[in-house]
Amino acid sequence: MTDAVAPDPRPLALVTGASSGLGEAIARRLSSDGYRVILLARRADRLETIASGIPGALVLPVDLLAEDAPAKIAAAVDAAGGKLAVLVNNAGAGGRGTFADAGFAGVRQTMALNFDAQLRVTEALIPALRAAAPSSVLIVSSVSGKIARPGAGAYSASKFALNGWADALRAEEAAHGVHVGVILPGFIATEGFPQKELTGSWKTSWLVGKPEHVADAAARLIRTRKPERYAPAPWKLMALLAAVAPSLMARISARPALTPTTKA
Ligand SMILES: NC(=O)c1ccc[n+]([C@@H]2O[C@H](COP(=O)([O-])OP(=O)(O)OC[C@H]3O[C@@H](n4cnc5c(N)ncnc54)[C@H](OP(=O)(O)O)[C@@H]3O)[C@@H](O)[C@H]2O)c1
Repeated sequence: MTDAVAPDPRPLALVTGASSGLGEAIARRLSSDGYRVILLARRADRLETIASGIPGALVLPVDLLAEDAPAKIAAAVDAAGGKLAVLVNNAGAGGRGTFADAGFAGVRQTMALNFDAQLRVTEALIPALRAAAPSSVLIVSSVSGKIARPGAGAYSASKFALNGWADALRAEEAAHGVHVGVILPGFIATEGFPQKELTGSWKTSWLVGKPEHVADAAARLIRTRKPERYAPAPWKLMALLAAVAPSLMARISARPALTPTTKA
């Protein structure tokens, strides 16, 4: 006779883009905070390696741009018990290039991953989030969702759009016990965002934060159920400056050191 395996009693958290960078750091943090994590990204080998160091982690290799991605993700959450305490919509990419160079096609490509995919995943998981209420949806936006820079217009468009959508979703889901929190990271060196323009000089390297700053912001948003959190927190001052002195911020953000040169 084999012993029955007891179901994992921990609340479930799903993190998209968990195969590197911010998603990996957030998944590790949620696991140490007591969640059972589902790691989602395309690279199954990377997910397996990361999962091997996180107790009870499940891996979900899915391309978020695939037509059947939302159905696959909802089925995986159903199979893990059907109640989702935390969804972290994190997967995203840079969307570099001026509008004259990358054009409408570049904007559409960036929106498909950074914006549309977050909506498609959230739509598929709202029943599981409501079933687990009080629960949280975290949306990984960016300071670029408050301040636009030349060469990153498509990226900023996707993040500005996320912020607006999140504000509406927060108001809509409050009555169902689903909190919506927006994380606004500044510059963080990761695989997809190496920040080489900044790390190369002592004059700008201090601007670059660590993935753990973002993981801390995620944990804090879940705990406090506040609407948004910058990571690291002082980036909020830049967003405030952009709101009160837009011309000054336009001059600062057009400086060559802040203009992205890497294509992502
Ligand atoms: N790093 C920064 O400075 C910074 C600043 C502000 C905001 N952010 C935001 O933070 C998020 C994470 O960025 P990161 O810096 O951690 O970059 P990253 O290291 O490049 O991570 C991106 C993640 O997204 C996944 N991904 C990409 N395309 C996917 C697809 N089609 N389907 C499923 N997963 C996909 C990647 O995994 P696979 O390749 O295995 O699929 C990877 O796990 C993004 O939304 C980004 O906009 C980053």
